[in-house]
Amino acid sequence: MEKFVIKGGRCLNGEVVISGAKNAAVGIIPAVILSDEPCILENVPDISDVSISLRILHEMGAKVQTLSRDTFRIDASGINNYCVPYESARQMRASYYFLGALLGKFNKARVSMPGGCPLGDRPIDQHLKAFSALGARCNLDHGMIDVSADNLKGSQIYLDVVSVGATMNAMLAAVKAKGLSVIENAAKEPHIVDLANFLNSMGADIMGAGTDVIKIRGVGYLRGTTYSVIPDQIEAGTFMVAAAATGGDVLIKNVIPKHLESISNKLEKIGVNVEEFDDSVRVWVDGPLVKTNIKTMPHPGFPTDMQPQMATLLTLAEGTSIITEGVWEQRFRYVDELRRMGADISVDGKVAVVEGTGCLQGAPVKACDLRAGAALIIAGLAASGVTEVEDIHHIERGYDNLDKKLQALGGDIIKKHFPGSSVRKAI
Ligand code: EPU
Repeated sequence: MEKFVIKGGRCLNGEVVISGAKNAAVGIIPAVILSDEPCILENVPDISDVSISLRILHEMGAKVQTLSRDTFRIDASGINNYCVPYESARQMRASYYFLGALLGKFNKARVSMPGGCPLGDRPIDQHLKAFSALGARCNLDHGMIDVSADNLKGSQIYLDVVSVGATMNAMLAAVKAKGLSVIENAAKEPHIVDLANFLNSMGADIMGAGTDVIKIRGVGYLRGTTYSVIPDQIEAGTFMVAAAATGGDVLIKNVIPKHLESISNKLEKIGVNVEEFDDSVRVWVDGPLVKTNIKTMPHPGFPTDMQPQMATLLTLAEGTSIITEGVWEQRFRYVDELRRMGADISVDGKVAVVEGTGCLQGAPVKACDLRAGAALIIAGLAASGVTEVEDIHHIERGYDNLDKKLQALGGDIIKKHFPGSSVRKAI
């Protein structure tokens, strides 16, 4: 078993370069299926969700060539089946994007029910509603989702809840459907815009991405393209919080500051200094951290994927902060782990009350999901003593070389292999 072992108490200082966005890349990689020509993807993050997506394409018959650490040439013209291998698909949430891409290309798709972080109920009814609106039949059969259509026809798609996944899947399925599709109550996250930009660079006709109404006029042919994935808003936010939590001074490079506004604003309320440049932000602390309240919401609200990291920072601030989770049913599972480190947080449903204690102590903890893992690493960097974080596969799903990037900033974190069972179980 691998763990991150962190000796806390060191300020992070220096520069870090942010990788491509996980939640954009995992939509764009399956979208390559829709093109009849090879595509080159740049700024692709080195994370396990990406490796799984690329493996799925390879297993289905695509040619995937690594041009450099973050650049891939993908020729999906050899794919001639519409069924995603079960074992690969169930390892990640974003495998559901193969449904939309395959349906858009072949008028049929068969993919297992997706996996992903345990954040409470994660239905896909809105994805299926969008496919049905375009004329597809959808069935669940022994853990597999089957969708098929005689012909996909452009249509009005109203999403009952604002869903990133359903918006992206609707775009993938509609991009070659005959006629006009209109997605209403669409999600507006930066990765929605990135997927639309990628598809448009292949010749698609998508307008309005980034607003709550997206119009897609179906096209018959999508050509090859070279496209660079946007920087990861959440990786950037995680480094911003890590800099603040350790009282450090970090220049975070390769970011789109506009995407970070809700995070920067909250950090400033907490007493953290944030200076924006064209494609970087500097974060530093020169005074006390103070309480604030946070409510997570779909973009442009405060992102739920930054909630655990921010809660960790607030344990180090003066005063009582209230955090309301507005997206997921169960996104406070990490709180038990933070309590092991001395945090004083009480949770009632979707609301957490954080009593700032000003300090944390190192302890053995478990990452129960991706962002929970990031929060525990931040806690470990800020705590006194040693923190061991286990179940790090969750973290490696979404952070590109987090340990190495933190080491370069002066963080004392190493990945260690431990034979046998967990420390906590052994005690
Ligand atoms: N929902 C439904 N029905 C659906 C789809 C969603 O009721 O058919 C509900 C969900 O239960 C949830 C809300 O709508 O309460 C929002 O879910 P959404 O579909 O937007 O989430 P997702 O597409 O499954 C993506 C990210 C998550 C991120 C959310 C919200 C990917 C692969 N995942 O999930 O990222 O939390 O959007 O921004 O893009 C992460 O990166 O750590 C992560 C969990």
